[in-house]
Amino acid sequence: MRQRDLPRTYRVKSFGCQMNVYDGERMAELLSEQGITPAPEGEEADLVVLNTCHIREKAAEKVYSDIGRLVKAGEEAGRKPMIAVAGCVAQAEGEEIMARAPAVGMVVGPQAYHRLPEMIVKAASGTRATDTDMPADAKFAALPKRRKSGPSAFLTIQEGCDKFCTYCVVPYTRGAEISRPFSDLLREAERLVEAGAREITLLGQNVNAWTGEDDKGRALGFDGLIRALADMSGLARIRYTTSHPNDVTDGLIAAHGEVDKLMPYLHLPVQSGSDPVLKAMNRSHTVESYLRLLERFRAARPDIALSGDFIVGFPGESEADFAATLALVDAVGYAQAYSFKYSPRPGTPAAIMDDQIAAEVMDERLQRLQAAINRDQYAFNKASLGTTCEVLVERRGKLPGQWLGKTPWLQSAWFEGDVQIGDLVQVELVEAGPNSLAGMLRETVAA
Ligand code: 5AD
Ligand code: SF4
Repeated sequence: MRQRDLPRTYRVKSFGCQMNVYDGERMAELLSEQGITPAPEGEEADLVVLNTCHIREKAAEKVYSDIGRLVKAGEEAGRKPMIAVAGCVAQAEGEEIMARAPAVGMVVGPQAYHRLPEMIVKAASGTRATDTDMPADAKFAALPKRRKSGPSAFLTIQEGCDKFCTYCVVPYTRGAEISRPFSDLLREAERLVEAGAREITLLGQNVNAWTGEDDKGRALGFDGLIRALADMSGLARIRYTTSHPNDVTDGLIAAHGEVDKLMPYLHLPVQSGSDPVLKAMNRSHTVESYLRLLERFRAARPDIALSGDFIVGFPGESEADFAATLALVDAVGYAQAYSFKYSPRPGTPAAIMDDQIAAEVMDERLQRLQAAINRDQYAFNKASLGTTCEVLVERRGKLPGQWLGKTPWLQSAWFEGDVQIGDLVQVELVEAGPNSLAGMLRETVAA
């Protein structure tokens, strides 16, 4: 690589989960602190960070096509952007990326991105750099203070996974489970609220596995953290994702009934409605134990909106196994859910299991599952009609005077009126679509 000027502008492109969105925001803050500014809309940036996702095949392929596109656009403009590959593909395939894509100057894993500034200097001096170390604590301590926030902010409280589901790459890309210290989280939450956040979504691969200690050294569980954040006066709403059935505690279920600021929404992935498939996935819960948990959440908070994740076509999944997944969906009535075709991930136990399922079978099952999920989502939205609820105003709508926000149940709601971004307003839901609702403004609660 030749020597070059330090970049003056950057663009961070994040793919995949909300954790990556959070990391992307933190990388942007880190670069801004170095005096590198966001590239104006429509202009090529001097430095492009591709913050990648490795959870399914297409995501990794997309990285290579994005690199190709950046190189081509650079050639046409007579310049070479500095390209950094960050995120989970960087962690899993760093060496391969360096070998396959000479235009990439830096490869930086999800636990090492605080070192980007040094790596940029190195890359500018002509040395390609890879950093896929995993000192997660060091990363958070090295990141700048939060200065900017929209009304709804993400806050990573936990990272990594020790569960080793047989299909999943996360334990390898994000490492072992770690919890960020309580005091650091309170401080970051306070800064986010000062910067304009009214709602904070706590993030973690197993967010409810979070543990910590309060300032007196007493052990705290995830529900303790929620209760402490609920005491913060400027913060109006708390959400969290993604939780794991095996880390659900009595305290968390109780918090849903007791903490007003904790929104009535639960994303609890189950992956399959068949016990043999769950066993092969190493989920260590059963369909029955999952359903019992949901019942308890519903008992604590009867209006709770339920969401989940599903994988179709896991190796060995029979038509009867899949029918059991459909039956589970019917039984639960999800307000919203995500479903994916199984994708063999290199290095995971399931990738070398017998009975891999044919692509056409997976396609067909995914269609049936998504039809069932969409039906239930629409039904959930229709059941909300006539309700007057609090909506957090997040952005302007497409038409003048129109606003878009989220209901407590995480539905998107459109309405017209004299409000501002960040307001919490009372909206009557008057029209339901499959993916959003239209509402009428009733009263502004707080600015
Ligand atoms: N193939 C398909 N989907 C997967 N997920 C995780 N690993 C895979 C895989 N190998 C899905 C799971 C998980 C969500 C984040 O992605 O449903 O909950
Ligand atoms: Fe994708 Fe998982 Fe990495 Fe998130 S943690 S970016 S879902 S591989």
